[in-house]
Amino acid sequence: MSRKRVAVLISGRGSNMAALIEAAKDKSFPAEIVLVLSNRPDAGGLDTAKANALATEIVDHTKYGKDRAAFESALQAALVKHRIEIVCLAGFMRLLTADFVNQWPERMINIHPALLPAFKGLDTHQRALDAGAKVHGATVHFVVPEMDAGPIIAQAAVAVRPDDTEQTLAARVLAVEHRLYPLALKLVAEGRVRVVDGHSLIDGAPVADSVALSE
Ligand code: GRF
Repeated sequence: MSRKRVAVLISGRGSNMAALIEAAKDKSFPAEIVLVLSNRPDAGGLDTAKANALATEIVDHTKYGKDRAAFESALQAALVKHRIEIVCLAGFMRLLTADFVNQWPERMINIHPALLPAFKGLDTHQRALDAGAKVHGATVHFVVPEMDAGPIIAQAAVAVRPDDTEQTLAARVLAVEHRLYPLALKLVAEGRVRVVDGHSLIDGAPVADSVALSE
């Protein structure tokens, strides 16, 4: 089976992108990263992509003002140009409209630094600490128009320690993100994930041990 052509969309340092690039260096990995696209010209991850000889595109949202449709048309054009089959959002800090998202049904995934549906949105680590959460973590899910919603594909749990700060907790969550995202992309690229009634089934079953990692 041919490897799926993947674009990784970033806005910043791109450490999850780097984890996906590393995983895809193995020729037996079912996906290849063929494009890194950033909405920010200064995203640090672009240097990593170039160092790995990957194609990069910049679609700078500030050039489109309030015209979200034009911004998203440019995104879509870049994805089509590179014959992308699966889109991975990895710290991509733009909200996407339903019109765009609906062009990628079950073909666009995102990583979020919390155990969804808890702590949608930003500042997840501090909010988990403030809430007194004992378990925190990361989630990979299909993207749907509602932010940080969408069928959950894989999760990784991290125990919160009494002396954790936002920084120490973020670092441990990030480490599991780097294991989780390649695992989830592998499952999606192999065509092993189906969405039934809003829930992901892996190989036809609701949960698999391999998609519930813990630190
Ligand atoms: C990660 O924590 C990811 O879960 C969130 O944004 C952060 C991006 O970090 N969506 P990086 O750019 O992958 O290093």
